[in-house]
Order: sequence, then C-alpha cells, then structure tokens
Amino acid sequence: MSPAKTMRNTNTIHRRQRPAPQHPFVFFAPTFKGLEATLAEELVALGASEVQAANRGVDFKGSLETLYQANLHLRCAHRVLWHIATFPAADRTQLYEGVRALPWGDHLALPMTLAVDTVGTNANLVHTQFTSRVVKDGVVDWFRDQGKPRPDVDLENPDLALNARISGDTCTLSWDTSGDRLHQRGYRGRHAGPAPLKENLAAALLRLSGYDGTQPLVDPLCGSGTLLIEAAMMAKNIPPGLLGRRFAFTRHPTYDARLWANIQGDARAQIIEPEGCPIIGYDISEGAVRAAATGLAGAGVDDIVRLKRQPLAEMGTFSEGMIVTNPPYGERIGDIEELIPLYETLGSTFKHKCQGMSAHVLTSSKFLGGRIGLKTYRRDAVWNGPLECRLLHYELY
Ligand SMILES: C[S@@+](CC[C@H](N)C(=O)[O-])C[C@H]1O[C@@H](n2cnc3c(N)ncnc32)[C@H](O)[C@@H]1O
Repeated sequence: MSPAKTMRNTNTIHRRQRPAPQHPFVFFAPTFKGLEATLAEELVALGASEVQAANRGVDFKGSLETLYQANLHLRCAHRVLWHIATFPAADRTQLYEGVRALPWGDHLALPMTLAVDTVGTNANLVHTQFTSRVVKDGVVDWFRDQGKPRPDVDLENPDLALNARISGDTCTLSWDTSGDRLHQRGYRGRHAGPAPLKENLAAALLRLSGYDGTQPLVDPLCGSGTLLIEAAMMAKNIPPGLLGRRFAFTRHPTYDARLWANIQGDARAQIIEPEGCPIIGYDISEGAVRAAATGLAGAGVDDIVRLKRQPLAEMGTFSEGMIVTNPPYGERIGDIEELIPLYETLGSTFKHKCQGMSAHVLTSSKFLGGRIGLKTYRRDAVWNGPLECRLLHYELY
C-alpha cells in the first residue's frame, strides 16, 4: 500500500470511528455575582472540562461522575443545572412545540413529579408563570402523545425541577440536579445568630482571602460561626455535600447508585485530622456563640475550633495567620452611626494586636470600611444577594 493510501485510510478511520466524547454533558453552576472566577477554580480542580466563568455562574462540561463530584464538593455554588436543550422560543407556540419535541422519557420515569421555574422574558413571553405553564404543558403532552399517563406537578418537592431561561427569542431548558440549594449543608441549628452569611458565600470569601485550609484563622465577630465552620471543613477536607443532605440527581433515571456510593466513599477516606491550624471565633453575644457551637458540632469540626464569648476590644495578640470577618454593616442590624466605634476598634485591633497577619473584612458600607483606617491591598466586589459589598484585604505589618 502506498504511503498516500495509508494516510487516506487512517483519516477515514478517524472520521468513522470517532471515540465517544469523554465529557458529553453540559452543566451550569450558578453562584453570587463577583464569585464566578472563584467557582471556576473549584471546577477546574475537580477536573471539569470547558470551564467558562459566565454572568452569575460557570458553564462546564463533564460526565455523570463530574456531576456527582460537583454536587458533593463545590463550596461556592448555589446548585448544579444540567442542560437539556436550547431552542427558538419567540412566542408561546414555538416554546410549546420546542418542549414537546424533546425526549421526556429520558428525564421522567413515572410516577415522578415535575415543577417548572422560569427566569427571563421576551416580547411575547412576558410573564414567567405563564412561560412555566407552557413548558409544563409541553412535557405533559409529550407523555399524552406517547399514550402514557401524565406526570403530576409538585411545586413543593418535585422529582424533576426544570429551569427555563428565556433570553431574546431563545429558551434554554435545564434540570436542577441539586434539589435543595447547595448552601444548605445541614449543619446549622434552628437558631442561627443575626444575619448569618450563606454557607457558600462564607466559603467563597475564605477562598478569595487566600485561605487554603492550613493557616491559623480568627473571626473576632463570628456570629453563628459560618466562616469558622466552612474554614474547618476545608481544613479537614470535608466536602460540603457529605453531611447527610439529599440530592435531586438521586431521583433521576440516570442515577447510578454505585458510582455515587464510590464517590462518597472516596471523599470520606480523604478526610484528614489537621495539626497546627487553630481556628478561633469570638462574639460579644452569648446566643451567637451558642449557635456557632451547634453548627460546629453539626459539621463535625468542633474539635479544631475554639470559641469564646468576648468583645472585640478584649481580643488578645496574634502574630500569624489570617482574620476573616463580617461585621454588622448597618443594613440589617445596627445603624451606620452606631457602628462607627466597632469599625474603628477593628482598625486599632488589626494595627496593634495582629502584626504579621492578613485581615479580610466584608462590608457593604464604604463609609464604615473607611473607618477601619488602614490601607487595603485589594478590594473585591461581592454581591451578598442584592447587596453590593466589598471584601477589603489588609496586610498587617
Ligand atoms: C453580621 S454578624 C456576623 C455573622 C457571621 N459571619 C455568621 O455567618 O453568622 C456580626 C456579629 O458581630 C457581633 N458583634 C457586634 N459587635 C461586637 C463586638 N464589639 N465584639 C464582638 N462581637 C461583636 C454580633 O454579635 C454579630 O454576631
């Protein structure tokens, strides 16, 4: 056979026997505005492919294993959506026909129940509730077309939660593989302190501050301890999804119970007992310290965190590691004038008692942030829900 012929044949083989893509599924993990890059780093570390930070979330691809790993390990995401289809939806008819043409038997094995949530509008689809109803009708009528019984709607606790995103004349349909939001780790007691941070926001703040699970850490205004608990879980390598919560993907026809059990088993085997990384929390409120203790115990990290009821002004001296904290910012508790002394005390505490450390403070008040009175080396814009905040970073000499 001539070399030219060999070459041609090889090419033919490549075209005909293209291997199945290793990462066939398309996912989107929403997060807080400003934290997309932090979440993208987590996904890259998990081995997801084609990771792309987008607006309020991250696109990525992967296998069923990637999906389970993402739900188990992601600390900064709200949830993980699995992309079903994108199709024209300029009006009701296009939307309905687009939905009805999809193979719903792949997603709903009766008697599974269904709910649809819509975000976005266009000129003809102006009410999200109406759009959700059209999508639901398309799914239900697919079953009718097949001569099968129709799935029921359950808005409270559906087996399949569909997410329809209308953008321009296009609809993107996904299903929510997480169920309860991923910040619901399951460690909080019923009485969290005032204005607790969302767990995934706390984890993202720690990452943005450079915390990697090995440095000493102090939160002098720890409230119900969210930053401490998330830090301690990182220090022990406990994935946030391993505390007994349930995931919606376990109700989907693709669910592979053995794969999920193996992934959880591997994660359990990688939990460590860290040495020499003290994590310390203080708060002026007895109730907050109690709530923090409950959360620490719930997460199984109370053995590596010390808690004490103590006002900021009485904090002792530290010389290494980092302070990450979230003082009241006058939006929900206290008012701005009243909080000036607290922020000034933070500044003087950093300056006189924390030389050699770094400090990282989340606040929504530029005015109060300025009262700390020290020079920041970086400021990150982070949205705590609708509230635009800054994470202020200080190097303390
Ligand atoms: C916004 S909350 C912190 C919330 C916390 N990050 C969480 O996730 O639960 C602020 C905390 O600062 C505490 N605090 C206010 N003034 C203080 C002071 N002078 N000394 C110590 N703690 C103080 C409050 O009791 C409150 O728990």
